[in-house]
Amino acid sequence: MTIHIITIDGPSGSGKGTLAAKLAQHYQYHLLDSGAIYRLLGLSLHQKDLIDSLDQILILEQCVEIATHLDIKFISDVKGTQIYLDDIDVTETIRTERVGEFASKVAAIPALRVALFERQRIFAQVPGLVADGRDMATTVFPEAQAKIYLTASAESRAERRVKQLQGMGLDVKISDILSNIQARDKRDMERTVAPLKPAEDAFIIDSSNLSIENVFTLMTDYIDAQLGK
Ligand code: DC
Repeated sequence: MTIHIITIDGPSGSGKGTLAAKLAQHYQYHLLDSGAIYRLLGLSLHQKDLIDSLDQILILEQCVEIATHLDIKFISDVKGTQIYLDDIDVTETIRTERVGEFASKVAAIPALRVALFERQRIFAQVPGLVADGRDMATTVFPEAQAKIYLTASAESRAERRVKQLQGMGLDVKISDILSNIQARDKRDMERTVAPLKPAEDAFIIDSSNLSIENVFTLMTDYIDAQLGK
């Protein structure tokens, strides 16, 4: 039986996570949040005091071993997905800015990306998978039948993030958030290994002036056509 694979790549704040979850629900496919895997490895290496020593070759070998055997579980129910590292619920911990920094260090190291490759591939199971990340179409699932690149201007992503943080009761300045987003984009797009870029055959959507519902419709129209539904 063919496994249908839909990839959604793009910068942070483009709405990828929300849309990937909606699509997985709509098609009743599995969901891979690959950013969470980088975050889990970042957290695990930090807990073992290894995150600041990744430039040492012996430490790196040890970290590759840890990445290969990382004990992670994603358990989904109607309320969402709980994420476990070594059987401890770290769903909220991995979303902090700090763990985001650890993930970003891990993501820049080729040997660790290679070690996480198979961990991501095993999510492809019948009837299908929605894979959300930066290099899903270009590196991890080049055989995907539907490849979407979801982007949005840095300004509109910053506005969304500010609303989200204000909703959590935090007092934030849009200029700070915007410069963080611009710095992260630069790092993601300019790294030598698996940089953030659209696959040649990707369907590109700019969500700057679109609602989630509009983007969802554009995506399902494209996916249905690609999958012959
Ligand atoms: O999407 P996110 O913020 O959870 O991603 C965390 C980090 O992992 C971010 O620095 C980008 C990186 N990442 C990556 O390099 N490749 C992926 N497929 C997913 C995330």
